[in-house]
Amino acid sequence: MPSVYIKTYGCQMNERDSEAVAAQLVAKGYQLAKSEQQADVILLNTCSVRDQAEQKAFGKMSNLVAETRRSRPNTVLGFMGCMAQSRGQELIDKLPDVDLVLGTQKFHRAGEYLDQIFTGERKQICDTEEEKGSESTIRDHISIGKSVKNTVTAFVSIMQGCNQHCTFCIVPHTRGSERSRPIDEIVQECEELVASGTREITLLGQIVTSYGKREIGIKNGKSAFVQLLEAVHEVKGLERIRFTSPHPKGYGDDLIEAYGYLPKLCASAHIPVQSGSNRMLKLMHRGYTRERFLGIIEKLRNVNPNIGLTTDIIVAFPGETDEDFEQTLSLVREVRFDNAFVFKYSPRQDTPAAAMADQVPVEINEERHAKLLKAVTDIGAEHYSQFMGQSVRILVEGTSRRNEQRLQGRTSCNKIVVFEGNERHIGQLIDLKVYRVGSFTLYGDPAIINLD
Ligand code: SAH
Ligand code: F3S
Repeated sequence: MPSVYIKTYGCQMNERDSEAVAAQLVAKGYQLAKSEQQADVILLNTCSVRDQAEQKAFGKMSNLVAETRRSRPNTVLGFMGCMAQSRGQELIDKLPDVDLVLGTQKFHRAGEYLDQIFTGERKQICDTEEEKGSESTIRDHISIGKSVKNTVTAFVSIMQGCNQHCTFCIVPHTRGSERSRPIDEIVQECEELVASGTREITLLGQIVTSYGKREIGIKNGKSAFVQLLEAVHEVKGLERIRFTSPHPKGYGDDLIEAYGYLPKLCASAHIPVQSGSNRMLKLMHRGYTRERFLGIIEKLRNVNPNIGLTTDIIVAFPGETDEDFEQTLSLVREVRFDNAFVFKYSPRQDTPAAAMADQVPVEINEERHAKLLKAVTDIGAEHYSQFMGQSVRILVEGTSRRNEQRLQGRTSCNKIVVFEGNERHIGQLIDLKVYRVGSFTLYGDPAIINLD
């Protein structure tokens, strides 16, 4: 049977999709190739969120075409995921040597399409159609994409798509409208994962706080997402639950309170704020104000003062003035996030923001990005330095990819802790004393491991 190599760009949802396609192909008898050079099938799982991500994958594919067509002309090359969805046939027009373009609702068809290509039944396939029920086809998966190779932590996809239509974002276009899986199906998948060694599950979706809005709705004052959290919390043997990404408007009191009464729910939240200026938030179609966002943070910290908080921010959205940008800086200083992803605004095809007047010049974009990143990094460093000498509890995930001697785990508040441990610690909750603080990483002293 042929071997396959999948390279993933972009977010955790993409990692999860790659894992699902890998599992599907392995179940058909494929092997996972250790490198592109050894693979009979090379798939690039692409991201469209920013132009740079698209350029990267496109450049990579151009190189692959050049390399393989000379030495291994039978290698099957394919694009999958968001760029495949948004560009479709255009990719084949530009790179006629590409064999397969697989849209975001077609991952479960990868095996069937590859068969058709291998048997010569079809020469080239491009499928980016919508498909009803595709949210329930992404189930089994194999760990291939994570920075630490492990079975201790796993992703579970709970929904696909997004209806928010933020004016800068291509996701509603590439992933379609919101579709949620039923609670019992998700719980069953979690139970199966726990039975095979998983201790921590991250529930995934583009806007998880909108989970099941239409399909399930509010019951006893609790949103469908909180109902799901409660149901997953019941899974025996599961230690920790995380989720990403939520939307600030979904942080109702029910979700905030859940942090208090669901002990498995990790004390961390990645809440994308995007801007600190109400004018920008409105133009972005975010559906909340700066004040509402700050109110959520305050409530969360009231429930747990140690909660780890991270965010996403876009600088230089069209029309952003110095004053608007200062509002973002001041919000960052007020909240003091543990960390933040700062993105330079990148106009995306067919999004309303791309057509707005007052696009901000590149130099100002770069300047604001650097300034905000510095503020975020400085605050993060101060925050991390507070852990020096502290005892932290981590769930040990596995060996570090860079150094096999090192194990790695995370605190409940989502700080990475590296230490020199023993493989038998993998999957355990252990306490370590922090003896060194690096850049967004803590180093734990193995001498005080609370194990035999
Ligand atoms: N809810 C999604 C958001 C996907 S995009 C999630 O689960 O992650 C991730 C982040 O990319 C967004 O929060 C936003 O900060 C950034 N982003 C999205 N579109 C962008 C654009 N056109 N330019 C720059 N950054 C963008
Ligand atoms: Fe994109 Fe906004 Fe949805 S950032 S994924 S449209 S919540």
